[in-house]
Amino acid sequence: MESPALSPPLPPVATPASESPAEAPLAMESSVAALLASGKGILAADESLPTIGKRFAALNIPSTEENRQAYRELLFTVPALGEFISGTILFDETIRQTTGRGLSMPDCLTRQGIVPGIKVDKGTIALPGFSGEKATQGLDGLRERLAVYRGLGARFTKWRAVIAIGDGLPTAAGIEANAQALALFAALSQEAGLVPIVEPEVLMDGNHTIARCEAVATATLRTVFATLCDHRVALEAMLLKTAMVLPGKDSPQEAGVEEVAAATLRCLRRAVPAAVPGIVFLSGGQSEVVATGRLNAICRAGGVPWKLSFSFGRALQDTAMRIWKGSPANLAAAQAALRHRAKCNHLAVLGQYSEQAEREGSTR
Ligand code: 13P
Repeated sequence: MESPALSPPLPPVATPASESPAEAPLAMESSVAALLASGKGILAADESLPTIGKRFAALNIPSTEENRQAYRELLFTVPALGEFISGTILFDETIRQTTGRGLSMPDCLTRQGIVPGIKVDKGTIALPGFSGEKATQGLDGLRERLAVYRGLGARFTKWRAVIAIGDGLPTAAGIEANAQALALFAALSQEAGLVPIVEPEVLMDGNHTIARCEAVATATLRTVFATLCDHRVALEAMLLKTAMVLPGKDSPQEAGVEEVAAATLRCLRRAVPAAVPGIVFLSGGQSEVVATGRLNAICRAGGVPWKLSFSFGRALQDTAMRIWKGSPANLAAAQAALRHRAKCNHLAVLGQYSEQAEREGSTR
């Protein structure tokens, strides 16, 4: 019998030198595994000076270095926080500070079993020529800063790009400029042995529909991953930090948790390679309880190739900061509030969050 016709030979495969490293070096592999420990998520406590100033001002807390140190120490010394939190993102000022007992902040976290990380971008500027769009700064001198952060104890990094939705926005050039910066950041981080958290945040601002958010998020993530691959970033040694797919916060449209979960998962499946080990969600201005409910619906649906978890800032800290108000007398109550939120989000990652869990131990 005649053998079936052979298909034409495939073009030669790329030489190994042109590809991402097949395996992440051991240090990054173990950081990824620790960050993605089952049921745990990341505490984003990396507010820049202007951002923490804004959050403190809303509660009449003076934004002094002393208050910022006291507040971050409060967060990091919540009893047994490491049961629910795998990693914490610090700001440049914080990673250089010490606790009242003289421990460096990274050592304080490590003793809780929490991996310390660092925000390395330097905030956004207007993208010239593209009204309403932004670029993130911080690449100059980044290689040298990464070496310093590693010496201070950081094991992972974060870079936030923002993508706004509006009339004619985002543009392809806006997405590409941000994807390039994210890819350079990620490649430099991996060169330094630090796991990059790549964060292209599609903002909630605006009155757009959930369908428009999904289209923008999908296009953004596809461009970001194509650019990461062009820059030879090892997908196995990074995490994606992304927003949930939601209607704009001024949209008249309501979206139920199941709709949010379905749109978010469809977008991620269509745009994020399976080689990425984990995806963590930011809260982006959602209230604490709403963010946890949506996280629960997303994680409960499951059936995806990546680990899913949270990397919340406001949705972990809001109540704790409001209770603390800058007064040492409120420390224990504020810590209890953060522990409760961390536990609720831990349950959500397992798909086991409920109204009853929210009520139990609630400090509101
Ligand atoms: P929010 O959860 O408050 O959006 O903060 C997460 C974060 O790290 C934004 O860069």
